[in-house]
Amino acid sequence: MKVAILGVGTVGTAVANILLKNKSIIKARSGKEIVPVIGVVKNTTKARDTSLPLTDDLEAVLAREDIDIYVELMGGVAQTHGIVKRILAKGKPVVTANKALLAYHRYDLQAVAGGVAIGFEASVAGGIPIIKALREGLSANHIESIQGIMNGTSNYILTKMMHEKVSFAAVLKEAQELGYAEADPTFDVGGFDAAHKLLILASIAYGVHGDPEDILIEGIERISQEDIYFAKEFDYTIKLLGIAKRRGSQVELRVHPALVPSEKMIAKVDGVMNGISVIGDAVGETMYYGPGAGGNATASAVISDLIDIARDGQGSPMLGFKQPLEEASLSLMPK
Ligand code: HSE
Repeated sequence: MKVAILGVGTVGTAVANILLKNKSIIKARSGKEIVPVIGVVKNTTKARDTSLPLTDDLEAVLAREDIDIYVELMGGVAQTHGIVKRILAKGKPVVTANKALLAYHRYDLQAVAGGVAIGFEASVAGGIPIIKALREGLSANHIESIQGIMNGTSNYILTKMMHEKVSFAAVLKEAQELGYAEADPTFDVGGFDAAHKLLILASIAYGVHGDPEDILIEGIERISQEDIYFAKEFDYTIKLLGIAKRRGSQVELRVHPALVPSEKMIAKVDGVMNGISVIGDAVGETMYYGPGAGGNATASAVISDLIDIARDGQGSPMLGFKQPLEEASLSLMPK
């Protein structure tokens, strides 16, 4: 299976390298050799840590008939939406880590895809297989709530601020250098990235429609050392939480900083880690923990989708929003 990687930054480089490094187990598990054959970048002269051939000619790569799957890691919404639709309309599967794209266009892309697979495990919580857990592991449950830390960058910043006397700006710079932050870090610290992920999870669980603008979103920009000091005094930890709660036939979605009692599991999720609690009516509370950002962690999720598509062929219902866990879609509670 020939793969084209659109966007070869931190995650794209890791995808190409892990496909190469783990190629024998990937072949054993998918039944096929999954070979990255070309990467599309804006600037071909920039040094990158991969032997993948690179081009800046996106159109030429889109026109190639021999590519079996496209991995979209370019980011952005409007232009990328058009590109992904064109690929799907040609009947080629797409694997994407682009949560902003899915937060706005998930159902439209699903409709365009028809039976063609869209893999998006990497779009939520980096390396944690939370999409597969929701769609597959918890498919016997009505989901009561989904809540937790869904943005690695802001958790990294809050953790550093809790334990060291460091400035917000300095830690944000560090998170950017480590490849955790979005191209525009306002998405991280403003809570928008967590809201995108929350919408994706709530769409799988409840079939909710709606845009990020329909959700209450507050970021961490105004959290001060004083807030942190008082939180600690009373044995609380400040965390940026994404919260989806079922309220009858409606779903409440919100993202905001919250005071979490320090003994709670979620309070102990530190650094770039994400931690998400999902409560199902049958199973009770389940917790998912792992790296929420970073090249290798996110690439691990991207490649799991490539393996699924190679193994199951196109149109695996597990890869779409087609069947929310509820029998009928629930509506979004007004914010
Ligand atoms: N900027 C995101 C984060 C990357 O920090 O969580 C992973 O989606």
